[in-house]
Amino acid sequence: MSDDNIELNQKIITIEKDNEALILQLKHYANDFAVLNHHRYQSYDLLSKAHLDSLERLARASEFKDDDTGIHILRMAKIAATIAKAHGQTAVYCELILQASPMHDIGKIGVPDSILKKKGALTDSEWKTMRRHSEYGYEILKGSIVPVVEMAAEIALTHHEKYDGSGYPHGLAGDEIPLCGQIVAIADFFDALTMDRCYRKAMPDDVVLSLIENERGKHFSPELVDTFLAVSDEIIALRDYINATKAV
Ligand SMILES: [Fe+2]
Ligand SMILES: [Fe+2]
Repeated sequence: MSDDNIELNQKIITIEKDNEALILQLKHYANDFAVLNHHRYQSYDLLSKAHLDSLERLARASEFKDDDTGIHILRMAKIAATIAKAHGQTAVYCELILQASPMHDIGKIGVPDSILKKKGALTDSEWKTMRRHSEYGYEILKGSIVPVVEMAAEIALTHHEKYDGSGYPHGLAGDEIPLCGQIVAIADFFDALTMDRCYRKAMPDDVVLSLIENERGKHFSPELVDTFLAVSDEIIALRDYINATKAV
């Protein structure tokens, strides 16, 4: 072998060694990056869970003023998500309404217990105070940049509006009422009437279903009533399952 060839071979060996060191270093970088990314994902996941957990506890706090078990809001959220799905909404929307709807009555924090838990009929002035809970809820939730809280604010404000314009607080009609408010209105109506309250016993499912049918085009949009009735068996089964297992 000539001297030139020996020199060339040595250069190649050196380059190969340098490359090996470089490749090893790159592998270490890639590994560090994967570990870092994993930790980042875990932190993000934990933060999202902590966020949703706080929202749920906030909703539960308000519900304890009205319903001793707090389970109404969980059932109602599942029913709202079922209606949204049957209505053709995206998975993202269904998830948002599932998380946002438990806060629909958060404004009841601002209504005195003497009104909320009153066993007899409310006076006109007590009803006026009770109705303020929509606006109180909106005041608590408005102005957030978090999509679920934004939707929760919209729901809090509009879940007592009625399709024919006879609801409160603003007397919105038809499509002026955001879809999330309309969906929660019908889910809340069904669940509230089919559960025991301090001032009355639960109404039978078939009675409440015919009440919903009668409200077609009045309290609720015709389209949403049709959607609700199309999946009412699924909703009743879901409600019974949650009641039996307390699982959601
Ligand atoms: Fe309400
Ligand atoms: Fe409710």
